Amino acid sequence: MKRLIPTLKADGVSIEFIMLIRTILAASKEIAFRVSQGELSGILGSTLDENIQGETQKKLDVLSNQLIKDILLGDDQVRAIASEEEDDVVAGTPGAPYIVAFDPLDGSSNIDINGQIGTIFTILPARDDVADDSPLQFQQPGKNQVCAGYVLYGPATMLVLTTGGPTRCYTLDLTHGGYLLTQPEMNVPQDTQEFAINMANSRFWFDETTRYVNDLILGEEGPLGKRYNMRWNAAMVGDIHRVLTRGGIFMYPGDSRDPKKPAKLRLLYEANPMAMLLENAGAKAYAGKQRILDIQPDDLHQRVPVLMGSANEVDVCLSYYSE
Ligand code: F6P
Repeated sequence: MKRLIPTLKADGVSIEFIMLIRTILAASKEIAFRVSQGELSGILGSTLDENIQGETQKKLDVLSNQLIKDILLGDDQVRAIASEEEDDVVAGTPGAPYIVAFDPLDGSSNIDINGQIGTIFTILPARDDVADDSPLQFQQPGKNQVCAGYVLYGPATMLVLTTGGPTRCYTLDLTHGGYLLTQPEMNVPQDTQEFAINMANSRFWFDETTRYVNDLILGEEGPLGKRYNMRWNAAMVGDIHRVLTRGGIFMYPGDSRDPKKPAKLRLLYEANPMAMLLENAGAKAYAGKQRILDIQPDDLHQRVPVLMGSANEVDVCLSYYSE
């Protein structure tokens, strides 16, 4: 099985850029080890703090953030970093070519139940027209991303990565400590009979979402003419990994639950990297009617509605929004 570095080299990725990806992955291996030790590593449970989003921080959130932050700030390819767990942009090496944004630990509510969790990251070109620590560094549309990936800490630790070409999947080989290429090209089936949405929010949904999900549930007796199954991991990495592996539609739509927070998932740390990974595997990713990768961000911690997955199913869903 091919290793990560020769695969990236064959893709024409520069040595400096490969080293940057390796830096992020070094932190992921440390996190994977702590996760695999569970209770024994002393990282389960909450801290007494809340993050910028007003959510209780888990010890593993804090540890993962610190690990990735420290390792990236020591990399001379990184001009600035932004983390879901940090209020502001943190400046790195002046004049360096790239900026990195990351969600250090996605799906935190799964930590204590030994469920799927992950690290999501994205790399963008640094901007010379704004200060290194300006939030404007990160106010670039997702189509500017030069690399997107996640590491899924599940029964196996898996890396899913694109550097602009195909979305490839690697598995962490614990016997030698490296990522091995296990799925050279992920291809999301165009059609699906599986959807993922948090049904507990249904009373807050807007009409379009309600009509679409009702039709999914009607199955072969409804207008869509086929029976659907439902899955919900409560960790976007887990849900998107399933969609990348066998198809499906994943939705976290906007709703009226909290007028101050009309959507849940973050554009920079979650929606954009997942949208790039999915599009490069033949799937689609939208925020309402807009392609996620075209959105011009106006805030570092901006949230967007999310609708992504098997291309034909996303089209069906979009038709409800345009009616
Ligand atoms: O944004 C964090 C996150 O944990 C996602 O990974 C996941 O899809 C979602 O929130 C789960 O939300 P809920 O708490 O509504 O199940």
